[in-house]
Amino acid sequence: MKKVIFIFIGMSFILQFYENQKLKQEFLNCPYYVEQNLKDYMDYFKKNRFLSLEDIVLKVNVELDISFLEKEANLQDGNLILVNKYHFLKSDYVPDLVLMDVRYSYEQKYAQREAYEHFISMAEAARLDGILIYNVSSYRSYDLQDKLYKEYSKKDLNVDTYSAKPGYSEHQTGLAFDINSIRDSFADTKEGLWLAKNAHIYGFILRYPKGKESITGYKYEPWHYRYVGVSVAQYIFENQITFEEYYAKFVL
Ligand code: DAL
Ligand code: ZN
Repeated sequence: MKKVIFIFIGMSFILQFYENQKLKQEFLNCPYYVEQNLKDYMDYFKKNRFLSLEDIVLKVNVELDISFLEKEANLQDGNLILVNKYHFLKSDYVPDLVLMDVRYSYEQKYAQREAYEHFISMAEAARLDGILIYNVSSYRSYDLQDKLYKEYSKKDLNVDTYSAKPGYSEHQTGLAFDINSIRDSFADTKEGLWLAKNAHIYGFILRYPKGKESITGYKYEPWHYRYVGVSVAQYIFENQITFEEYYAKFVL
């Protein structure tokens, strides 16, 4: 058995090596290739597989691969942590997670402990109103987000309007929940309408509202709710602002 594992690891290593060699050769054939930028081309390619190699060479050459705005999310912010296109989490960041009960979640999913407790209160309150809400995607590890992002980007050039790159998804905080469905039509269902009206009472905000794409960086997602705590959710709901605006005003 051990031998098989070693052979498997060895084979993957060799395959990876040949893939890298092939990629290097392809970069070398690109117009404007600059030898000392090769490592940056390779790094940028890993994060932007949907771009052509020619584009990558040009972007790296003019330093568009470096975003001066990007910084690590502040872990000290607790439930108010901001993770977006400019604030990232390291690949090994894992929050305090609990396994969600199947009554509240489709398949086995994990969520941050406090957010989950509030999710239960919200689901139970909804149930009393005859509304069934359940999680379909909560905590997502860096690796899972990487897999999802790659899958979407293979088929769609607009991937960045609705999917975060690994490290840039607030699903990695365990504080975000995709509820019931990830279809635009969810907004007009009785469950979608109930959440839009009541989620703030339980500490949740609609994280990517309609018409706020230029601030949040993402298209309207009527299913994506983020736990921020009751008083903050109340404020954001009453003032109809985004989490980015709240963060800039009160947390920064
Ligand atoms: N759909 C949201 C933006 C994410 O991928 O985290
Ligand atoms: Zn989501």
